[in-house]
Amino acid sequence: MRTELRAVDTSSAPDLVLRPWRADDLDALIEVYRDPVLQRWTRHPVTTADQGRQWLKQTQQDWDDGRRFSFAVLEDVADGPRLVANVVLKGVTPGGPAAEVGYWTAAWARGRGVAPRAVTALSRWAFAQFTGLERLDLLHQVDNPASCRVAEKSGYLFQEVLPAYPPFPRDGHRHALTASGPVAATVSGDAR
Ligand SMILES: CC(C)(COP(=O)(O)OP(=O)(O)OC[C@H]1O[C@@H](n2cnc3c(N)ncnc32)[C@H](O)[C@@H]1OP(=O)(O)O)[C@@H](O)C(=O)NCCC(=O)NCCS
Repeated sequence: MRTELRAVDTSSAPDLVLRPWRADDLDALIEVYRDPVLQRWTRHPVTTADQGRQWLKQTQQDWDDGRRFSFAVLEDVADGPRLVANVVLKGVTPGGPAAEVGYWTAAWARGRGVAPRAVTALSRWAFAQFTGLERLDLLHQVDNPASCRVAEKSGYLFQEVLPAYPPFPRDGHRHALTASGPVAATVSGDAR
């Protein structure tokens, strides 16, 4: 079921390709995780090559287990694909009505709508792929306004404030998108 997705370009940013992570993404992964902002907002920071290999191995195992699906997001540029982000669909259960999305964008690629476009492509794929899936949740801490904007721009509507949950010390927001939400209108290209 491993698959590749596409998200359309914008006036200032190229197409995005979303594909499962591969072992040869190691150097790019470690480079991205040098960013302290990313380290602050992630549960499992990658700081060494061993951690990176373990991270990549786990994402491949997760695909095989069928509950968590991580995609490397690459810009489709002339001199070759470049890693710009990660998006993940998690908490999938057979026939289950709800799952969750997560994401980060490399520091050098922020502010160009990478995360909203990738989340939109991922959301569309999720609803098409998993029978019975009716709702996707998106969680972020209250003091992460950039992530709140990603939710809004991806069509995820604010639902509720959640109490703080380790390792994040502050309350969070839950946003949600339903299968009949606006996602279908904002992405071109199909899961292949
Ligand atoms: C949150 C995050 C994924 C946004 O990704 P992105 O691809 O930059 O998304 P966008 O381009 O749509 O920008 C979203 C918001 O980020 C802010 N932003 C804009 N340019 C930025 C830049 N150069 N650097 C940082 N943030 C910027 C703006 O508030 C923007 O909202 P706006 O479009 O209303 O101006 C990214 O900042 C990130 O990876 N942060 C660290 C990890 C993280 O927070 N993950 C989510 C955990 S819930």
